[in-house]
This record gives sequence, structure tokens and C-alpha cells, in this order.
Amino acid sequence: MTFVGQRSKKESITWFSQHVSSGKAAFFAQYGLDFVPGYREGVFLWDVESGKRLINCHCNGGVFNLGHRHPVVVDALKQALDELDIGNHHLLSEHRAALGRRLAELAPGDLPYSVFAVGGGEAIDLALKLARAHTRRPGIISVRGGYHGHTGLALAAGDPQYREPFGPLAPGFQQVPFGDVEAVAAQMNEDTAAVLVETVPATLGMPIAPSDYYAELRSLCDRHGALLILDEVQSGLGRTGRMWAIEHWADPRRGGRCVEPDILVIGKGLSGGIYPIAATCYRQELNPFLHEHPFIHISTFGGAELGCVVALTVLELTATPGFLPRVRELAERLATGLAHLQERYPDTLIEVRQLGLMIGLVFPDESCGPLMTKLMYEEGVLAIYANHDPRVLQFLPPLIMSDLEAEESLGALDRALALLSRIRGWAIIH
Ligand SMILES: Cc1ncc(COP(=O)(O)O)c(C=O)c1O
Repeated sequence: MTFVGQRSKKESITWFSQHVSSGKAAFFAQYGLDFVPGYREGVFLWDVESGKRLINCHCNGGVFNLGHRHPVVVDALKQALDELDIGNHHLLSEHRAALGRRLAELAPGDLPYSVFAVGGGEAIDLALKLARAHTRRPGIISVRGGYHGHTGLALAAGDPQYREPFGPLAPGFQQVPFGDVEAVAAQMNEDTAAVLVETVPATLGMPIAPSDYYAELRSLCDRHGALLILDEVQSGLGRTGRMWAIEHWADPRRGGRCVEPDILVIGKGLSGGIYPIAATCYRQELNPFLHEHPFIHISTFGGAELGCVVALTVLELTATPGFLPRVRELAERLATGLAHLQERYPDTLIEVRQLGLMIGLVFPDESCGPLMTKLMYEEGVLAIYANHDPRVLQFLPPLIMSDLEAEESLGALDRALALLSRIRGWAIIH
């Protein structure tokens, strides 16, 4: 191989520690996770040296929805490299136009425009800028424990642990508990520009909102002239068994069709895991501001033409008839397996939160998520705890996982749960 394993693992870890991040190197050493990803394909990752194999049920929050190096996506990029490059972000573009049009066709509601970004944080920043510019109001209400990225406005909307060292941040941000419409109503006033929510908050441990939550948020926003921004960076693009997670929440005012956001933000999986790209998709009514100021928000690499080809390929694969039904079938298979595991370990696996393949496994206390991360790693599965609720292990299998791989993941989970139960039993006795 030309790119994998060119130097010893020890040297890579030393160089990483000396020249990239000493803190990350120390963190992984402390947890005994000395895995350096080498060859990768489909649902699997191999250590660069030891040959240890992991099933990737972390998926970088959806980046690897289609697995690693999906051959159709890789071929599309290879072919595009013969003709295209990043393009010039100031000019018109055939490829950004095609991607914008396809997103408009697939969007959950009437969102005809898309602005492209390199990553989710940048796309969230634009969503918030657009909300403020359109409404001419400063207030942003977001969810406590939510996560929208580490850039400026996204950071201000997120958890205090990431923003406190960097103050003073942009003013005008308030946070409310997830799933609580009354709490939003209490904060909402004539200064509120937008309510920003991850449709399924991943870093908070995949709580699933009540069935009327989004319809009520929608009405509340409409009554106060505020915008509803949905962050589907993790939950979008088929992760929940529907193209968009919001499709699971009907709006009675739209004849049972799904709640329609004013702005939808997507990223991660849009990249196919091989070319960074994210998007802020928005309604026609919000367009006058950017029409008048077309160069007020630009991004040199956002919407790179090579990335547009990749993203279009990802959308075609995800929209192929049969793809989403298969995701739902796999989700049911896993739900059955997880229900059995809950019966076997009722005191350890105390709750399964699941919407399609967006899964959070809840354990009794905050030591369990990190411990399960390690136990699952030892059993050959990469699954990482939810940073804002460490009782929860995030379990995000690639959408292309086979039945056999699903069984293998459940087997690993079974063994890890058996160990966790024993460790907890031992800790209680002693
Ligand atoms: C829900 C959500 N929104 C936004 C982001 C930020 O995306 P990025 O890291 O591409 O800036 C993330 C990243 O994890 C995310 O999970």
C-alpha cells in the first residue's frame, strides 16, 4: 500500500504527540486505545500495524453513513478529478447549481436555496447569520447540551464547556432543556430570531422528542415571527430510516406532512467520507437578504466542485429505491437484538433510544459510557459515549451494514454488557 503503514505505529504516535496534539495522544494512551486507523473499507477499520479490526459504529456521527470508501462515491471522485477542481467560489457553477437543485427536490418542505460550506459549524454559523439578518433580531434559543460545532455562532449556541474559555462570545444566546416547549415559550419574545435544535441531539445521547414537539415549536416560532432551524448534520441523510429525521414528526397543520423547518443544516454524511462539504438549505422568504448581499458570506472551499460531485452521488445512493427501506429493516433487526439484550441485562442496559440507526444505549451512571467505549473497543466495535451525557453510548452503525455484521456487533455488545454487569456487580459488593 502506498499511503497506509509507511512508518511504524510507534513513530506515528510520537510524531502525532510532538507535532499534532500532545493532549489527544495522552488521552488515548491513558485509555489504552492505541488504535491508529490504517486500511479501511465498508463497515471496517483496521489498525495500521496490529491488524486489529473494528466495526465502525461511531461513523464520525454519520460521515461514514455509506461505510468507508464506498466504491461508487470513490469512482465519482476519481472521474471528477479528470475534469474538475475546487472551482472558484465567486463565480457561477454548474456543479453547485446541480447540487442545490437536487437538495431542493429532496428537502423536507420548501427549501429551494442552499449555501455550501466546508463543515457543519460553518453551515450553522450561516444559518444563524441569516436568521438574524432576515428577522433583524438578535435572540437565538438553542438546547442545553446540544452541539452545533466549534465555530463562532455555533459555539455560542452550544454547551458551556466548549465556550467558557473563549469569552466574551456573541451575545443573544439562551439555552433551554430539550423536548420542553414551555421552556422555549418562556424565553421567546420579540427579540427572538430563531430556535435552533438538532432534530435528534446526538451529543446529548439521542433523546427522542415527543411526537408533538416540533409541530409545537413550529407554531410557537410562527406566532412570534421567529425561524425554526433544524440541525440534521448527524440525523439527516438516511440515518433514521427516512431521508430527514424531521420526517418522523408530522405537522397537523400540513395535513400530516412533516414539520417544515425554515432552515435545514446538513453536513457529515454529505461528504461520502471522502470530500468535506456541508450545506445550509433555506426557504424562499429568506432569500432577499442574500440576494441583495450575494458576497456577504463566502467560503473559498465551501461547495468545492469536486465535493459537489461527491455529494450528488451520496444523495443518489441514499435516494435509490430500496435504500431507506433496507435501513429500516436493519434498524428493526437491531431493535429486536437490543430488546433481547435489555432483557438479559436489565440493570445495566436501562434504556434503548432508537430512531432508525440513530441509537443511544443508556446505562445507570456516568462511568458506564466511557467504560463501554473501552469494552466495545476490546470486543472489536468502535462506539463512543455521548459527551454531554456519559451515561449513554452512541451506537451509529453504517447504513450499509449487512445482517451478518449487525449480528457481529450485537455479539460484541452482548459480551461487553456481560463484562460491564460483572464490573458493576463487583463494585457494588466492594
Ligand atoms: C449535530 C452537529 N451539528 C454540527 C456539527 C459541526 O460539524 P463540523 O464538525 O463539520 O463543523 C456537528 C459535529 O459533530 C454535529 O454533530
